[in-house]
Amino acid sequence: ALPTPIANPQIVYTKVFIGNEWHESCSGRKIPVYNPTTEKLLCEVEEADSVSILHVAMALFSTLCVQAGFPPGVVNVLPGYGQTAGCAISHHMDIDKVAFTGSTAVGKLIQKAAGESNLKRVTLELGGKNPNIVFADCDLEYAVEQAHSGLFFNQGQCCLAGSRVFVEEPIYEEFVRRSVEKATSKVLGNPLLPGVDQGPQIDQKQFNKIMELIESGKREGATLECGGSPGGQQGLFIKPTVFSNVRDHMRIAKEEIFGPVQQIMCFHSISEVIQRANATQYGLAAGVFTNDINKALTVSSALQAGMIWVNCYNAMSIQCPFGGFKMSGNGRELGEYALQEYTEIKAVTIRISQKSS
Ligand SMILES: *[C@@H]1O[C@H](CO)[C@@H](O)[C@H](O)[C@H]1NC(C)=O
Repeated sequence: ALPTPIANPQIVYTKVFIGNEWHESCSGRKIPVYNPTTEKLLCEVEEADSVSILHVAMALFSTLCVQAGFPPGVVNVLPGYGQTAGCAISHHMDIDKVAFTGSTAVGKLIQKAAGESNLKRVTLELGGKNPNIVFADCDLEYAVEQAHSGLFFNQGQCCLAGSRVFVEEPIYEEFVRRSVEKATSKVLGNPLLPGVDQGPQIDQKQFNKIMELIESGKREGATLECGGSPGGQQGLFIKPTVFSNVRDHMRIAKEEIFGPVQQIMCFHSISEVIQRANATQYGLAAGVFTNDINKALTVSSALQAGMIWVNCYNAMSIQCPFGGFKMSGNGRELGEYALQEYTEIKAVTIRISQKSS
């Protein structure tokens, strides 16, 4: 059995973590942090507004560690480098570098600040509006399940969320029907309790943004198949939402929602779906479901996206480079490619004397 979660953990760190030290806010301002399940105040954290944007990025990262439980992931990455570290160790590796995960807007600010200060190296992993392409020849039930979890994981609050599901015409209606069945069977509630599938959204601002995008979907003529409204009397819950008949020009098809809202579109040919799936400012990840190796390879080589999953979704491993094309960022984390981001190469050239002794 799983250990019982601690319902009211003591909050120890509320200051800004910069340069390995905890700092108070220069402005004296604090940010209230609420428990999204109960909407009750948890604590106040120091605001990091008057330090440079690069320091803010680091501060944000350490705040995320506390709020969103990142450390296990971060710690798990280290042993994975055991094998590759040996060959890179002879290069210079104490590079001062910022690795940032967040929105494209903040990523732009960080890149700009790095360019204007000291060319500090930056890798950015930013937004996504990831296509998940389902061909009629796939294993239907499995594809429905993967598309569902590929979107609803972590309440849809995931840069990798497969939020544009393109389904080939012959299986479109059945795919929508089964996706709705999955979405409506989800149990909403306190994520600390066993048996709960979906917790609340992270804060009021995100909750409002998601609800606003859902309203835009209804207004612009997509078919609301299920959900589309807050879930319950208390807490920032949003019912698992599925839209069908989504058109590419609609806001829900173009903007990153970061919530439990699945868009399902219909397509008729491989060239059409490649063009539509790639027509986005983002290029983080993409999924392809098919039993035809030619379709899988054609789609994977055509799409401009950093990670392409064939007959799977959200399949991450520490050996695989992770990062995006276009406005989804630059540089890669994980895998051997990530070590290069921390490596400075030095070429030593020696002239061999031509004098004969
Ligand atoms: C994908 O989109 C980019 C621009 O976002 C474009 O340069 C490229 O040609 C597109 N590729 C395909 C196959 O549509």
